[in-house]
Amino acid sequence: MESKLLLHMNSGKGERSYANNSMLQRKLMIKGKHILEETITRFYSNYSPSCMKVADLGCSVGPNTLLVISNIIDIVDTTCTRLNQEPPTFQFYLNDLFGNDFNTTFKSLPDFYKRLDEDKGHKFGSCFINATPGSFHGRLFPNNSINLFHSANSLHWLSQDPLLEFTKEAESFNKGHCHIVSTSPPAVYQAYLKQFQQDFKFFLKSRSEELVPGGAMVLLFLGKNKTHRRTGWEIISLVLNDMLLEVNNNFFNQLITIGVS
Ligand SMILES: C[S@@+](CC[C@H](N)C(=O)[O-])C[C@H]1O[C@@H](n2cnc3c(N)ncnc32)[C@H](O)[C@@H]1O
Repeated sequence: MESKLLLHMNSGKGERSYANNSMLQRKLMIKGKHILEETITRFYSNYSPSCMKVADLGCSVGPNTLLVISNIIDIVDTTCTRLNQEPPTFQFYLNDLFGNDFNTTFKSLPDFYKRLDEDKGHKFGSCFINATPGSFHGRLFPNNSINLFHSANSLHWLSQDPLLEFTKEAESFNKGHCHIVSTSPPAVYQAYLKQFQQDFKFFLKSRSEELVPGGAMVLLFLGKNKTHRRTGWEIISLVLNDMLLEVNNNFFNQLITIGVS
């Protein structure tokens, strides 16, 4: 089965859920809020739609999903008050892969709508929230249909494993890691870069067809400078490899025991 059908962040609201383990991503969204403010202000200097159609790509599940929506509503509301205009109706499209736990988000919507009503009162128009399951590496919406695209902490997800094209021998360059690590040779960096460039080009092409003329896009993602330090990901990758080796060793030990007895 294709990975885009299988992959998802941990669902629900439990201890190990994404909803309860996404503080780092939340901090980045808070840090980048001024970019959203500048973009929406610029957008409103040319255009004020009666229905503002916004798509959040790679929305996942949990408080961050709703934070994007309330941030955008707040910023548009403030902008409209400053321009002495009626706020628009909002239509939000929450996009993520097919396996994403959209249901947990849907269940939190009655409370969310209630809070919006209390906070915004009569000034607030209407807000409609929909899900758009699918991959942002392909088309998601009709031509000229979206006013604002937003995506945070998601675009580094590639459409496929960049090392797939490598021969078995070359694959061992990366010593079994499922991620770039500080010891990865340049060929591995090149493969990841090439895959990202291909994916991002197709992403931009798709969005350019879906965006209305004068529309806007805010993309937030974590970057890395050229100093190859050992990252948290590398440590996770090392732990996963060790666990896998342990499972394999136990399996072989059991086979040997069964063979001897
Ligand atoms: C780290 S989460 C970020 C969630 C949220 N935007 C935030 O900032 O907390 C990345 C999300 O991107 C989604 N994702 C990855 N590849 C995707 C794709 N090709 N199309 C749509 N969503 C994708 C994942 O399923 C995951 O929910």
